[in-house]
Amino acid sequence: MTPRRIVLAYSGGLDTSVLLKQYIDAGQQVVAMTLDLGESDLVAGAGSQDALDAVRRKALALGAVDAVLIDARERFIAGYALRALAANALYEGVYPLSAALSRPLIADLLVETAAEYGADAVAHGCTGKGNDQVRIEVGVRAAAPHLTTLAPLRERPLSRPDAIAYAQAHGVPIAHTAAKPYSVDANLWGRSIEAGVLENPWNAPPEDAYAWTVAPQTAPAAGDEVVISWQRGIPSIAGLQGAALVAELNRVAGANGVGRIDLIEDRVVGLKSREVYECPGSVTLIEAHKALERLVLGRDELRLKAGLDQKYGELIYDALWSSPLREALDAFNAKLAERMTGEVRMLLLRGRAVPTGCRSPFGLYDESLATYGAGDTFRHDAAGGFIAIHGLPVAAGAAKASAAARAAEPQPV
Ligand code: ARG
Repeated sequence: MTPRRIVLAYSGGLDTSVLLKQYIDAGQQVVAMTLDLGESDLVAGAGSQDALDAVRRKALALGAVDAVLIDARERFIAGYALRALAANALYEGVYPLSAALSRPLIADLLVETAAEYGADAVAHGCTGKGNDQVRIEVGVRAAAPHLTTLAPLRERPLSRPDAIAYAQAHGVPIAHTAAKPYSVDANLWGRSIEAGVLENPWNAPPEDAYAWTVAPQTAPAAGDEVVISWQRGIPSIAGLQGAALVAELNRVAGANGVGRIDLIEDRVVGLKSREVYECPGSVTLIEAHKALERLVLGRDELRLKAGLDQKYGELIYDALWSSPLREALDAFNAKLAERMTGEVRMLLLRGRAVPTGCRSPFGLYDESLATYGAGDTFRHDAAGGFIAIHGLPVAAGAAKASAAARAAEPQPV
């Protein structure tokens, strides 16, 4: 059944503009949905709102029945990024999941917009090769199982020359036709860069791949210092919180070359791909959060959490944000976050974000126990007994093994 009214996730780029026009020419009603996830806060500066507004106007000019621009920055940070931060979520050890975290939000907003406009389908411009199609569609299924999701570029892949030809023939304005060297996706949690010369993994990422970070080797030798305050797991710097805090950290850490990542990663659909990222703000926050955890959490909590954190990152990457397991892990992290209050001082220097100091009213570190100086209160005399009991299974096993070896030796005749 052909959908009557479709909500299209619309970036304003060539592909989604062509899709929009194709739907309209096929007689369908389209509501274009564009999100502000903060990606242009950094690049375009003050003009970013105008740029997003232009995207809206472009959709209307192409014949969309309506075009909505949703400022989703705070919702993205509070509902997605900070949950991932509580889990120190990094895919394959290094990628803060910036694109991956935004897709379930896009799915939720597609569903909400579809309800608002009485649409019977939602559509996106993802190809059949990537992770994002999986994330958006699993998200839509979780929130609205009755909704149809259309993925036209999966059914009919659109080459760039074909897209340009279609646009020119059908009056779709093309902003800059200059060959785009990379495919880029960005939001406050990070910027991903793929394709072009990066497809050969032997090629070092050219400097023009990066927009938010300077090269670590050319970053100022003095670096910058920031003190991040934490209140029950929520970070702030001098009163800045949420989206504004992350944008500010992107600026400061980016100016020091922090957060460049070059990863051969394993996609959900099974292939390996080479992805380059710059995630100055999120990398800094995760490093600071880990430092606070090391001070505040007990040994067993840290050990268990390390495994759960890895699982959390895999769930987000693998399009399972909507799974009950993710919610259960959030509950675990929320319980621990009751004690995640304190301050972490971070040095941002030539590509690294290094904690240089940490304090918390819940810190388990006790200087009088740890000191090698005066005022040591540790029970040195108790350590001998501890070792005897702690090592008992090993000692007992070793004694049995040597007795058994002796018994097996050939007896003199
Ligand atoms: N490989 C990353 C991920 O799966 C980045 C994807 C970026 N998406 C895009 N449409 N360019 O999370």
